[in-house]
Amino acid sequence: MARIKSFNIHTNEYDNWFVKNKHIYQSELNAVKHFTPPRKVGLEIGVGTGRFAVPLNIQFGLDPSEQMIKVAKNRGLKVFKGIAEQLPIKEEIIDFALMITTVCFVDDLSQSFKEVKRILKSDGSFIIGFIDKKSTLGKEYQKERKKSKFYGDATFYSTSKIIKCLKKTGFLNYEIIQTVFEKTNQIDSPI
Ligand SMILES: C[S@@+](CC[C@H](N)C(=O)[O-])C[C@H]1O[C@@H](n2cnc3c(N)ncnc32)[C@H](O)[C@@H]1O
Repeated sequence: MARIKSFNIHTNEYDNWFVKNKHIYQSELNAVKHFTPPRKVGLEIGVGTGRFAVPLNIQFGLDPSEQMIKVAKNRGLKVFKGIAEQLPIKEEIIDFALMITTVCFVDDLSQSFKEVKRILKSDGSFIIGFIDKKSTLGKEYQKERKKSKFYGDATFYSTSKIIKCLKKTGFLNYEIIQTVFEKTNQIDSPI
């Protein structure tokens, strides 16, 4: 059962976070942009309202939340309804796939990565943006999780756990960059 209830109910509040936290958003966008190949077929899994896919010129999205999909479609994205663990997409047709702040919501991380591997072309790439549970931000989110509408039932992972799972799936070459080093209330400019 996908963890989508809060995203269906508080869709606008989720989307407005990006307006209220524009410096964090810009830093995250810059970091993801660094890895995003231009002019290739991309799919964001757990696309949400399209806050990353739209500025990154990614054509396709997938999400289980109908309300999030509605906003993403209004922003011009082609969005499929579905979950990362069972992608409704043929083998080896995608150049690059992204999961931004979505690995913490999937029920089966290993199955999700296997599905990404299946749909990617042999020279494709997989871009993951996530909150490292050992980072300052990760510790803040875990401490505040009971008060959070969105992260109460999230499962945060460490970078080493994500890498271990990637290697097990056959993603052997990787590059890592970090953004957002401070507590969120101490950030007043993009990195
Ligand atoms: C924190 S939001 C991130 C949305 C978008 N990537 C962004 O950064 O704004 C997490 C998204 O994951 C979706 N989600 C939850 N469970 C999922 C699953 N099993 N597979 C794919 N997406 C899922 C939610 O509906 C939600 O839109």
